[in-house]
This record gives sequence, structure tokens and C-alpha cells, in this order.
Amino acid sequence: MADLYATISEVDQNVQERLADVLEMRAADVQQLEMLESYLSEIDFPNESRVLEIGSGTGGVTRTLARWPGVSEAVGIDPSPVFISKARELGSAVPNLTFEHGDGRSLPFNDQSFDVVVIHTTMCHVPDPEELVSEAYRVLRPNGCLAVFDGDYATATIAKGDFDPLEACIHAFRDSFVHDQWLVRRLPVLVQSCGFDVKPMRSHGYMEAGKGSYMLTWIDRGADVLVQTGSMVKEKADALKSEARRRSDTNNWFGHIAFASILAIKPEKHCYLDQYIK
Ligand SMILES: C[S@@+](CC[C@H](N)C(=O)[O-])C[C@H]1O[C@@H](n2cnc3c(N)ncnc32)[C@H](O)[C@@H]1O
Repeated sequence: MADLYATISEVDQNVQERLADVLEMRAADVQQLEMLESYLSEIDFPNESRVLEIGSGTGGVTRTLARWPGVSEAVGIDPSPVFISKARELGSAVPNLTFEHGDGRSLPFNDQSFDVVVIHTTMCHVPDPEELVSEAYRVLRPNGCLAVFDGDYATATIAKGDFDPLEACIHAFRDSFVHDQWLVRRLPVLVQSCGFDVKPMRSHGYMEAGKGSYMLTWIDRGADVLVQTGSMVKEKADALKSEARRRSDTNNWFGHIAFASILAIKPEKHCYLDQYIK
């Protein structure tokens, strides 16, 4: 099955609404928030910064950006009308926050109109991610900063030993919810090839030990995919979901996702040449 997020605007409205709930659950997760704040703290936000999040979903990250010191305006863009309407509803009390409907590969914004662009757990879902990075480059001001954060999903695991049957759900989840589970490993080269000066990539560990939370949704969604693709009967998929709940209820759950962040600067020298290249 193809990555649902990659073709989100064609996905059934009910499914988009369920995904919106998962995005908000993840946005409220303390470890996820700590990882976000950790890499945002490394960015030198100029005073009165105008900031863009590409692939803003229901707006959890963009809401944090709107409140970040130095930020005067935060804009989120996403191709899902369901996510955008939820993001507008949840962000209605934040005055310097707006959301636009659109594709990150052809942004409806002027050249050099943002100080910082953030792409948070979105790039691995987008075919042709070079187009996202090139658009980020175009809309950034000289010396502007691009921040990309994504999962090294190829190594995500809930296994407690070899041949753990629950791991099949993780594999099925990755196949249908992640376009490129290896993206992080080529991120520095990809970003550099679009003209950026790249800083060293950083690792962030996300662990669920004892009780499960966000990764239980991976089990449910992966088990559903196994049934939909005819790889497993529903009774067995239900048994896997119950086993995951049993581990969590008895404090025996384990799950880990390695995330990575990278910061990149749009160099002034390239901006001078841009006018001749266009
Ligand atoms: C896992 S969600 C992350 C949402 C948000 N950044 C967050 O962390 O809560 C991935 C997002 O990428 C968006 N997306 C998919 N294709 C896209 C594209 N071509 N341009 C911009 N966003 C895209 C999806 O609609 C979805 O909201």
C-alpha cells in the first residue's frame, strides 16, 4: 500500500479525521515536544521572524512556532483540507498564526519572504522531497534557516526479541504510512544539493518503556493494513492489538523511534547568483 500522507487530499474524509486525532495525540506527547524544542533552541531566530512550517498537519508544531521567542508570524501549509480546518480551529486563539491549503512542492509565497522554514516529520512522506527543499530555499531570505526533523523509521521497533509477532504490524505500518523510511540517511546530501550550507545532523531518541502511547497507534494501523491487504485474518490482527494492550497494561511495553534533525543555512553568495540562474 502507498503512503496515505503522500496522497492525503484523496484519502477518505473519516480516515483524515482519525489521522488528525493521531497528530494531536503526538503533538501533546512530552517527549515529542522536548525533541521539537531541543532543535528549535539551536535556531538563531531574528527579531520579528516570519516562520513557515511546510506540512503543518493539524498545526501542533506551528502553534509552538507562533509562541517561540522572536517570532512575529507563523504560517502553516498542508494539502489536507481536513487538517487545515482542524489547525485553524485549534489555533484560533493565537493571533500571529495562519494556515494555508497547498502543496509544499509549489508554495504560494514570494521569494525570500521567510526567516525560518520548518519541515517536521513531513519530508519522509513526500515523493520528490528535493522539490520541498528547493521551495524552502526559494522562500527563505539570505541567511535564513531551514530545519528538517524526521524519523529514521527503518530502525523503529517494538520488538522484545527475535521473531516478535507484533513487529509485523510495525513493518506494515511503515509500508503504508511512510513513503521513504530511509530518508534520514540521505538528508544531509539532499539538503546540501539544493544549495544550503548544512550543519551536522543530530539524533533524538523517542522511547516508550513500560506503558505504550503513540506507538500503540502504529500497532492498530499496521494490523488494519495487514487485514486490508489480505496478509492476515481479522481475528489474528485483533489478537495482536490485544497483545500490545496487554504489554502496556502490565508495564511490559517497549517501543523506540530514532528521530534526526538537521539545520541548514541559505548562503548569501548563492542568493546573489539566483537572479542569473532563474
Ligand atoms: C506526519 S504528518 C506531520 C504533520 C505536522 N508537521 C506535525 O508534526 O504534526 C505529515 C504531513 O505531511 C503533509 N504532506 C503530505 N504531502 C505533502 C506535500 N506535498 N506538501 C506539504 N505537506 C504534505 C500531510 O498532509 C501531513 O499533514
